[in-house]
Amino acid sequence: MTRTSDTLSLSLRLKDATHTIHEDLDRGIMAQGLFSSADKYRNFVQLQYQFHRDINGLYSHADLVETIPDLAIRNRFALVHQDMRDLGLPLPDAQNPVEAKDASTAIGWLYVAEGSKLGANFLTKLAEKLGFTETFGARHLAADPGGRGPSWNAFKSAIDHAGFDPALAVTGARAAFLRVKTYLNAPNASLNTPA
Ligand code: HEM
Repeated sequence: MTRTSDTLSLSLRLKDATHTIHEDLDRGIMAQGLFSSADKYRNFVQLQYQFHRDINGLYSHADLVETIPDLAIRNRFALVHQDMRDLGLPLPDAQNPVEAKDASTAIGWLYVAEGSKLGANFLTKLAEKLGFTETFGARHLAADPGGRGPSWNAFKSAIDHAGFDPALAVTGARAAFLRVKTYLNAPNASLNTPA
């Protein structure tokens, strides 16, 4: 039987819909050599800081907390903030918070943040070679307390059974990847339209 987007779970649909932009982002991060030196790595942490700052409010979205009870402890903003301090980096001025969207769009944004914890397994190893660890400079790349796999599976299971609107969720996930790409290409970008 051919899989159509109607029969896919939400998490698979999000994965399919963002596959190309994820690859594009990976390539961009590697092309800029963000893991090639401690100095370049600072740019990566700043990029992550800006993304997690922008989505910080979504981790306390009232509708989402009902669906995902451990949502607040999944939030890595405090960790990446501490990484900025470890590295002595000044906090960027711009504030571009993602507005408290409808729950479906918001979950698309959070899918990107939560999924990136998988890729972080690989990135942790690169960061370690530069001297950054889960207790200094690469705190936000550490696995969730229960482990990466179980944490991700629990998140997917929760979003797959909550009745979110898939089209809105895809819009949110694509916007999230684009946001990260914007910060990659324009550090300190100030966005007029937080979408
Ligand atoms: C060079 C940087 C990156 C590399 C090498 C990378 C690599 C990976 C890998 C290998 C996986 C799959 C892991 C698995 O299935 O066990 C993954 C998943 C994922 N990554 Fe990345 N990643 C990178 C950066 C990012 C960034 C910056 C974001 C978003 C902010 C991101 C978002 C995601 C998402 C959403 C998934 C889950 C896909 C799914 O299974 O639905 N990644 N990444």
